[in-house]
Amino acid sequence: MPDSHSLALDQLRVELGDRSYDILIGTDVLRTCCTRVAQQLGMMHAVVMTDDQVETPHAVNVADCLSDAGVAVDLMVVDAGEASKSVQTAERLWQQLLETNTDRQSVILAVGGGVVGDLAGFVAATYARGLQFVQVPTTLLAQVDSSVGGKVAINLPTAKNMIGAFWQPAAVLIDTRVLSTLPPRDYRAGWGEVVKYAVIQDAEFFCYLEQHVEGILSRDDAVLRHVVARCCRYKAEIVQEDEREQSGRRAILNYGHTFGHALEAATGYEMLLHGEAVAIGMLCASRLAESLQLVDRPFTARLRQLLAALGLPVDVPPVDVQRVMAAMQQDKKVARGQIRFVLPVCLGRVELFGGIDDKLVHAALVG
Ligand SMILES: NC(=O)c1ccc[n+]([C@@H]2O[C@H](COP(=O)([O-])OP(=O)(O)OC[C@H]3O[C@@H](n4cnc5c(N)ncnc54)[C@H](O)[C@@H]3O)[C@@H](O)[C@H]2O)c1
Ligand SMILES: [Zn+2]
Repeated sequence: MPDSHSLALDQLRVELGDRSYDILIGTDVLRTCCTRVAQQLGMMHAVVMTDDQVETPHAVNVADCLSDAGVAVDLMVVDAGEASKSVQTAERLWQQLLETNTDRQSVILAVGGGVVGDLAGFVAATYARGLQFVQVPTTLLAQVDSSVGGKVAINLPTAKNMIGAFWQPAAVLIDTRVLSTLPPRDYRAGWGEVVKYAVIQDAEFFCYLEQHVEGILSRDDAVLRHVVARCCRYKAEIVQEDEREQSGRRAILNYGHTFGHALEAATGYEMLLHGEAVAIGMLCASRLAESLQLVDRPFTARLRQLLAALGLPVDVPPVDVQRVMAAMQQDKKVARGQIRFVLPVCLGRVELFGGIDDKLVHAALVG
């Protein structure tokens, strides 16, 4: 049984006018949260979308709890993995929604990692001109990043996240206990995004991470709750200021991602998990910042040490550097030549820089 301490809930509000919503965070709180949100939203019919790795126990748990609260529930399961963020899978889900008489009063719950969140969110945004949806993130990456902020998308065969929308959830329910079943590599990868928040927003949080490596590696509950709540607060603040990535404020979240995405693309999305690519990408960006005299060598060394202590890769894998450069050029084309790097200027602060010489970018990649 959960003790009274673990039942305590942190509640954060994302203020976006009539699209505002709460993020509920706790340990062993999935049932409590589901019941509460079912009542709040007046849920009569819910569609729980998940993947085959998360179905048992987490998605079934959510479905059972909603049933107990008197909600009619349909469960829809997709294959685990990035390949499910496809037009084909979305179409299958649209069809299933039709067959289950889903209407505009129905609510979709996305129970899973970023793949399920992005896919179910996209399906929610598009079916019947938009259904309410609730994020129930089950990976660390999804709890600290993808479940908050309303970016939902599927992939085209040659372009990730190309078909999508800004579609805010009606609520985000985070139970850190679900992370206990997460495979070690996926767990470690999530820390790439956590370290990102520290570098872009908060030097003191960086020190906290340095001091809590042991608790992080042992999945200590108190540490996890503290970290998840803090990251959600950073993300909420940034999204509140720049919901649709128009002012440049939200773009700082892309720290480590220009290099990271290019490394993912150049290795065929098979070698690196996203958080791992971000870890290596942040170090490349730090070296680039060094070459522009924005930060010094010890800055990069300290970042490298924390990432390595968290079990993240810190070296560019054996890959054709020209392919990585080409992948960045592709990004540049998409951005109409306006590729801007998010670079650290000190711990806790980054700025956007454009027009950087390719030679410096190349040098930052080869280390
Ligand atoms: N929308 C956004 O703002 C945003 C931000 C960052 C990333 N993303 C997207 O997120 C995706 C990556 O998300 P991810 O890293 O969560 O990957 P994922 O959803 O593929 O999950 C990783 C693996 O862990 C399994 N899993 C999930 N939760 C589990 C649990 N509690 N126990 C056991 N297994 C579990 C999944 O089945 C999967 O095999 C990418 O598609 C990326 O584009 C979106
Ligand atoms: Zn990311």
